[in-house]
Amino acid sequence: MNKEKIGHGLATGKIILMGEHSVVYGEPAIAFPFKETYISTKVEPETVMTLDCHYYSGDFSNIPQQLKSVKEVITQTLIALHKETTTLKITITSTIPAERGMGSSAAAAVSIVRGLFDYFDVPCPPEALLPLVTRAEKIAHGNPSGIDTAATSGNKPLFFIKGHPLETFPMNVSNAYLIVADTGIKGQTRAAVSDVAHLFEENKQKISKHITELGRLTRVAKQAILADDAHTLGNAMNQAQEQLQALTVSNHRLDELVKTARENGALGAKLTGGGRGGCMIALTDSNEHARKIATALEKSGAVATWIQPLGVKN
Ligand code: PMV
Repeated sequence: MNKEKIGHGLATGKIILMGEHSVVYGEPAIAFPFKETYISTKVEPETVMTLDCHYYSGDFSNIPQQLKSVKEVITQTLIALHKETTTLKITITSTIPAERGMGSSAAAAVSIVRGLFDYFDVPCPPEALLPLVTRAEKIAHGNPSGIDTAATSGNKPLFFIKGHPLETFPMNVSNAYLIVADTGIKGQTRAAVSDVAHLFEENKQKISKHITELGRLTRVAKQAILADDAHTLGNAMNQAQEQLQALTVSNHRLDELVKTARENGALGAKLTGGGRGGCMIALTDSNEHARKIATALEKSGAVATWIQPLGVKN
């Protein structure tokens, strides 16, 4: 057994500003670590291997199917560290709402890998972290683009293209505020990604038009951010929501909250993440206005809201 050291691992939630779903097909996406929410993992010595988290507390060997990706990432990390026979107590605590498009599964995996590496005093560079998290994400999501893994493990906004080296960029739009609102309904990333794939197989021409358009809008959004132009950014968000609706990944609750945000003067509003539930985001140009929109969204049934200024260097 290890000395009395305790290992700690941390990861943040993430928000996809533009490009969800189309990113799976090689188009770019813009995402940033969402520091308002995080997951932490504590690793301690124990006589038997145990896991303690919101969904399960008990013996490692009885971990439910729902936590298969968590079990896998712990097992694979211990193998990578050549510590398969060590017994530990792993405690995971989270403020990231699960299955809400905030990357909770990737963040859990990132924090677990970091916690285990820390426990064994081994440095955890991206080359060690990313393959382990990617493997867990394949179990959780089926066909992940990698954006969740990149955004929850980093600390800078990303212009992300699947399979390309990570490109960070300054998300610094003065007087722009993003409101994030939780529908309270679990998102269905795995099902939504797989349904878009089926639609793509059935009608490549039609679906690739939506995907290409989402990619174009993401590039427009990037230019708008670099030009400090919140209005163009908001416009691109509104148009992206239409494309996401056409891909069938929005739903009634998301559409309602998007409508509420726009009726209350948002410059733009759309779903964020996998969709079919989860969270939506809205853009506005003052903190006061952001609060007004957040209140309206809560009155319309959002179970939680957050306000993120985009006018500071992230
Ligand atoms: O729902 P989330 O937070 O896992 O975001 C998924 C983003 C998608 O583009 C829909 C899928 C992916 O792997 O990029």
